[in-house]
Amino acid sequence: MSNTLFEDVDHYISNLFVPADPVMDDALEAAKEAGLPQIQVSAALGKYLYLMAKLSNANRILEIGTLAGYSTIWLARALGEGGRLTTLEYDPKHATVATANIERAGLADKVSVRVGAALETLPVLAAEGESAFDMVFIDADKNNYCGYLEWSLRLARPGGLILADNVVREGRVLNADSPDDAIQGIRAFNKALSEDDRVEATIIQLTGDKGHDGLAVAVLRK
Ligand code: SAH
Ligand code: DHB
Ligand code: MG
Repeated sequence: MSNTLFEDVDHYISNLFVPADPVMDDALEAAKEAGLPQIQVSAALGKYLYLMAKLSNANRILEIGTLAGYSTIWLARALGEGGRLTTLEYDPKHATVATANIERAGLADKVSVRVGAALETLPVLAAEGESAFDMVFIDADKNNYCGYLEWSLRLARPGGLILADNVVREGRVLNADSPDDAIQGIRAFNKALSEDDRVEATIIQLTGDKGHDGLAVAVLRK
């Protein structure tokens, strides 16, 4: 978005509510140095994810799409004693950078990074008896969001929370004829989420230093 007002306000918010944090700075620096795409959540959204995890007393968190572990660290910091987070990442290079960042953040004992295509890892988690996640954060390849929704519904507990990033994409989601697979994936996800009786859900629009986007928020029925 060309308008810098939203960026300025985002920085105003993070200056107020996200204290200087060398661990987070180092994680972002390591990602940059390794040449990873700079598409992690903003600091303000990271803080929001942390607050949502706290609010849901999350003890078990599943993340789909790790990148350098920035959102992972925000979420894992909200875990209580004995809490665990599993994060799924396709790209081994991203997983390596993330693992080092998570280690430096002192969270290695709480977080496990599983490498592979998430749609292949999710059935493995289910087969291992993983279930009853308090919270799921979907943030990987957008064309597979519908598949991630199905697995999230299966793996989350009744009353659990599902969040999904990037569901508005600067309004490109409005274009039913978009030739972009990612947009079509998001459109299908948003529609499926809106029609699914197993959840109550909405989308909140986001503006900030990552442009105009949206976060889907869904709570499983009990
Ligand atoms: N949640 C991160 C950003 C994730 S970016 C943060 O905010 O800090 C999306 C990530 O999903 C990328 O690292 C990408 O490699 C990964 N990804 C893409 N396709 C995937 C797939 N099929 N399975 C798992 N991860 C995938
Ligand atoms: C992209 C992916 C993301 O998860 C994000 O937050 C921003 C952009 C992307 O693939 O372009
Ligand atoms: Mg994202």
